[in-house]
Amino acid sequence: MTTARRRILVISGPNLQLLGSREPEIYGSTTLDQIHATLGEVASARRADVVCRQTNHEGQIVDWIGAAPTEGFVALLLNPGAYTHTSFAILDAIRAVGLPTVEVHLTNVHAREPYRRKSRIAPACIGQISGFGAYSYELGLLALLQHLDARR
Ligand code: DQA
Repeated sequence: MTTARRRILVISGPNLQLLGSREPEIYGSTTLDQIHATLGEVASARRADVVCRQTNHEGQIVDWIGAAPTEGFVALLLNPGAYTHTSFAILDAIRAVGLPTVEVHLTNVHAREPYRRKSRIAPACIGQISGFGAYSYELGLLALLQHLDARR
């Protein structure tokens, strides 16, 4: 019997379309397209598919999360950017769909400005990966796949 490929939705929030040129001393020189390409390779080597999206709009993130189950996604990989620290709407959306979610950040948000230390979405996530640059996304995807494997 063949097992269905797992579909994972990857969402990046505001200003992350500028990765590569945005404060490279903080966020590195890897572009979001490069991160997405790597995630695609990591996923396909592990019988999974990723669909990667970016938006600057909070409501769009909420819409994408809300539609994720009907679009056939089984898990979420989420970097909500600055909305991480403010958005109860994204927290509620994750809880509403009940999909396993991993929160990722390029930077170590706990070692930066105090207002970045609080994640509003963390209570709805399996876990958080923070501080490994572009590699945070890859680690987050591996953690999510491991979590899904353990539930099979
Ligand atoms: C970020 C951290 C947030 O505090 C910031 O607003 C971002 C990027 C990160 O990936 O390190 O936009 O989510």
